[in-house]
Amino acid sequence: MSTDPNRYVAKPILFDLTPADFRAHLPALLSIYVTAMRYPRGTEHHRAPMWSEHAGRSGWKAVAAALPDAPGTPVGIAYGYRGNPHQWWNQQVRTGMRHVGLPSDRIDEILDDYFELTELHVHPEAQGHGIGEALLRRLLHDRTERTVLLSTPEVPEEDNRAWRLYRRAGFEDVVRRFVFTGDARAFAVLGRRLPLDPDPSSGRSEVPR
Ligand SMILES: CC(C)(COP(=O)(O)OP(=O)(O)OC[C@H]1O[C@@H](n2cnc3c(N)ncnc32)[C@H](O)[C@@H]1OP(=O)(O)O)[C@@H](O)C(=O)NCCC(=O)NCCS
Repeated sequence: MSTDPNRYVAKPILFDLTPADFRAHLPALLSIYVTAMRYPRGTEHHRAPMWSEHAGRSGWKAVAAALPDAPGTPVGIAYGYRGNPHQWWNQQVRTGMRHVGLPSDRIDEILDDYFELTELHVHPEAQGHGIGEALLRRLLHDRTERTVLLSTPEVPEEDNRAWRLYRRAGFEDVVRRFVFTGDARAFAVLGRRLPLDPDPSSGRSEVPR
């Protein structure tokens, strides 16, 4: 990718992906994910079958971002699907909610009707220009679920772009310092009601919302 810092000020193109588009672009999308999350090379091979399976889930939606000078090369990806009690993530989060003492009627209310924001990543060279927020807004703008839930790694002082974006978008704590089975790291589960609030910066933004 170009390292010209001015390149990414240009308006990105945002486009919805069909499951077939998503699967066709999977190597490029997984490369964004591995680079953005700083995972070891090779992680994409483990993730590919899972991402492909996700694309068949009920209520699945994916949005990609590309830059006008390279419309065929995605620089960002966001996707998710409607949550349901048969999913591993749902079961893990339910356990986490029980551990922190949330009453069962509150747990049922939260997990009854939600969209799981499963992945949101922007290539590091394209970060810091509002592309992540534009992807988030486009992914969520037509959702009919009552809430959106996500999990993100805990970081000291919530000091990274993901945390700043989620807080700016109004996400609140559901469970903190949760350890999913099979992953030693601590995660936060965050959520908020839908729809998202109108974008306060829409007047100043160069990117489509
Ligand atoms: C989290 C992530 C998707 C956010 O995407 P992004 O495009 O970098 O971030 P945003 O859309 O929030 O951009 C906002 C930043 O751009 C700046 N910006 C510049 N122009 C902007 C505009 N027109 N509109 C909004 N923000 C703008 C903001 O000041 C802000 O800077 P800051 O983060 O230093 O405070 C991305 O940083 C990423 O992939 N991170 C690594 C992977 C990750 O953690 N994913 C989430 C895991 S759950």
